[in-house]
Amino acid sequence: MRLTQRVHDQLKAHLRPGDFAVDATAGNGHDSLLLAELVGSSGRVSIIDVQAAAIDATQKRLHAAGYLEQAQFHQDNHATVLAALAKQSPGKASAIVFNLGYLPGSDKLVQTKAHHTLSALNASTQLLAPNGLLMVTAYRGHSGGADEAESIATWAGEQEALGWVIKCYDPGCDKVPLPPVLWILTPPTTAP
Ligand SMILES: C[S@@+](CC[C@H](N)C(=O)[O-])C[C@H]1O[C@@H](n2cnc3c(N)ncnc32)[C@H](O)[C@@H]1O
Repeated sequence: MRLTQRVHDQLKAHLRPGDFAVDATAGNGHDSLLLAELVGSSGRVSIIDVQAAAIDATQKRLHAAGYLEQAQFHQDNHATVLAALAKQSPGKASAIVFNLGYLPGSDKLVQTKAHHTLSALNASTQLLAPNGLLMVTAYRGHSGGADEAESIATWAGEQEALGWVIKCYDPGCDKVPLPPVLWILTPPTTAP
């Protein structure tokens, strides 16, 4: 199963109307569209991308589907926006989705960078609801992608030591080019 399909299946099983969800890397808006559909007009989706082209593409996609009402757009670094959201609404996000790398068909120099990604992921751990889902897909085939994925693997290990439940879907490190890898994290369960 493709990792994007796995992410979408998990979101469909998890999100409910009225929920708050975050797309940390809007790109062309495919993930934002699904999040907006699942949370419905009573919910809220914060949609983040550093590039105007990505915000425009996502806005158009949601407008065409009639989902603008529940969408809030942020053209900024996800590390900055997630830190602000975590301060405003700690523990409120039912799902946060990262799909790392660069906007397909655009300038590959504008791509996610490990230090921003880790900072955004740390803020996400504060923003996520106790039963929330944090999903991170990293692409290892482009320059810098494998190093970014390595940093996330180390970070995920640190979260696991803190009690987070981590599922990692890695089709294999022996393939050329290296395939994408997905982590799904859920917060530590608090004892009843
Ligand atoms: C692979 S694309 C996302 C694809 C998207 N999920 C979709 O459904 O089309 C990665 C996106 O991350 C964005 N990006 C790169 N660095 C970023 C940062 N520091 N903060 C927010 N977005 C960033 C890029 O502009 C690009 O649009």
